[in-house]
Amino acid sequence: MYNFVLGGMQFKQPKWDVLTGRRDGRISLASDVTGNIPSPFSDFITLGKIFAKKGLNAADLVVLSGAHTIEVAHCATFSNRLYNFTGKGDSYPSLNPTYAQSLKKQCPNPAKSSTTVEMDPRSSLTFDTHYFTILNQHMGLFQSDAALRTDKKSVKMVKQLQSIDDFFFEFNVSMMKMGDIELLTGKHGEIRKKCHVIN
Ligand code: HEM
Repeated sequence: MYNFVLGGMQFKQPKWDVLTGRRDGRISLASDVTGNIPSPFSDFITLGKIFAKKGLNAADLVVLSGAHTIEVAHCATFSNRLYNFTGKGDSYPSLNPTYAQSLKKQCPNPAKSSTTVEMDPRSSLTFDTHYFTILNQHMGLFQSDAALRTDKKSVKMVKQLQSIDDFFFEFNVSMMKMGDIELLTGKHGEIRKKCHVIN
């Protein structure tokens, strides 16, 4: 376990080994997003296909979604689930009603585009297994989170990952796999000096 401070807030998180020297691309295009990055509005099968395209399986999907144990999301990424799920002014059927009420308070319709809510209520500063606990209480924030309860094997994993040791172990394995997606080799791309910007 490792503690760090970001923006004056204290975070806890697991620690894992990361291979260094990964070559990254120098060009980012908005047009590359669709079909390559999973959408919060997707169901389990669609998410599975996007992950499979990158060499990741359904188990990786479940455990990596556990990263939503920290941080926040903007109202626009889930407000359709509160106000207009099927286009008839309805809510997502299995969303916990008390949670839906609290989300509606935080994100009125329409909400300010800058408003954010915790993805893992009351535990969003701690990297823990609480995300998997709330999934079982029908409190997954995105459709993609709730989707993890719509597949038999995934439901089993959600239960298993409530063990902190299992979660940290499996998260480590899947993070290593994610770091290996579409590696550039030879003269393609570059090894970044700072991971979030090109050199
Ligand atoms: C099932 C696939 C996933 C979907 C559909 C998804 C979707 C999203 C969305 C919509 C947000 C909120 C963005 C915003 O409103 O600003 C978000 C935030 C976040 N996601 Fe995911 N995500 C997925 C997988 C992952 C994975 C694999 C990780 C890391 C291992 C991750 C880590 C995070 C983190 C840390 C945030 C908070 C970012 C911030 O506050 O700036 N997510 N995700």
